[in-house]
Amino acid sequence: MRSVIDILDLSVEELDELVACANDIIANPEKYAHKCAGKKLATLFFEPSTRTRLSFEAAMYELGGNVLSMSDAKSSSAAKGESVADTAKTISCYADIIAMRHPKEGAPLVASMNATVPVINAGDGGHNHPTQTLADLLTISREKGRFNDITVGFCGDLKFGRTVHSLISALSRYKNVKFVLISPEELKLPSYVKKDIIQKNNLEYVQTTDLESVMPELDILYMTRVQRERFFNEEDYLRLKDSYILTPEKLETAKKDLCVMHPLPRVNEISVAVDDDPRACYFKQVLNGKFMRMALILKLLEVK
Ligand code: NCD
Repeated sequence: MRSVIDILDLSVEELDELVACANDIIANPEKYAHKCAGKKLATLFFEPSTRTRLSFEAAMYELGGNVLSMSDAKSSSAAKGESVADTAKTISCYADIIAMRHPKEGAPLVASMNATVPVINAGDGGHNHPTQTLADLLTISREKGRFNDITVGFCGDLKFGRTVHSLISALSRYKNVKFVLISPEELKLPSYVKKDIIQKNNLEYVQTTDLESVMPELDILYMTRVQRERFFNEEDYLRLKDSYILTPEKLETAKKDLCVMHPLPRVNEISVAVDDDPRACYFKQVLNGKFMRMALILKLLEVK
């Protein structure tokens, strides 16, 4: 039995297999329509979510399975003080696989150590978000056709943005990947990601506060929302929230085949006028996320 807590729990070969499986699901959905008949996915979300929870649930339904859903921590026994470990043991009695989002870093790991079914980390605090990375990787694969030889700009809240940490981890295993880290001083990438992931893999990176000066060199621009819920005070959030706003004018110096990504939800970081630009890929990411979650559920349930 395997869980996916960190994107590095999956090897590069397994990522390739998941991408291939998702592409096959896209091409032949009917082949997969009953693969999970009789199986149940439990979605345990202790933090708000639209895309991640609903795409997990849509994924399970499209595989012919069923879903048990807990979308509000306040209505669960967590509100009575139940531990994550006990919740995981309990849900294992009802479901074949669990997707869990939690505001505490490490909570899905604790769940996986206590569950008797696979646990998928659907986002833990400001730490990791491996299944968003699966959505991102399928998008990069379909848009650019490669993971090697790319310059990827990450812009916005690189400190608390868990999707950034997981995507950097995933891409750090490929060749000739260059990271351009664009953020305000206060929201720079945590040093553990920089040291343990980027530097350890000898990858090239630059840090800057200025998006416009680096725009022409990027193959991918990954915009992020300033993570209000992780701030200690509202004043800092208000000061930093509109640090970067991508507009059609700012894209004028970008490559013609740039891929603009965003895990969503967007607040102000990308003007809606950018949505019509063929380089805008963020709604494709949403759809790709469902297919990759289907591929992951099949893998962890060991469905052939
Ligand atoms: C992200 C998250 O929850 O970390 N959303 C998502 O799952 N697509 C990004 C965010 O909330 O900013």
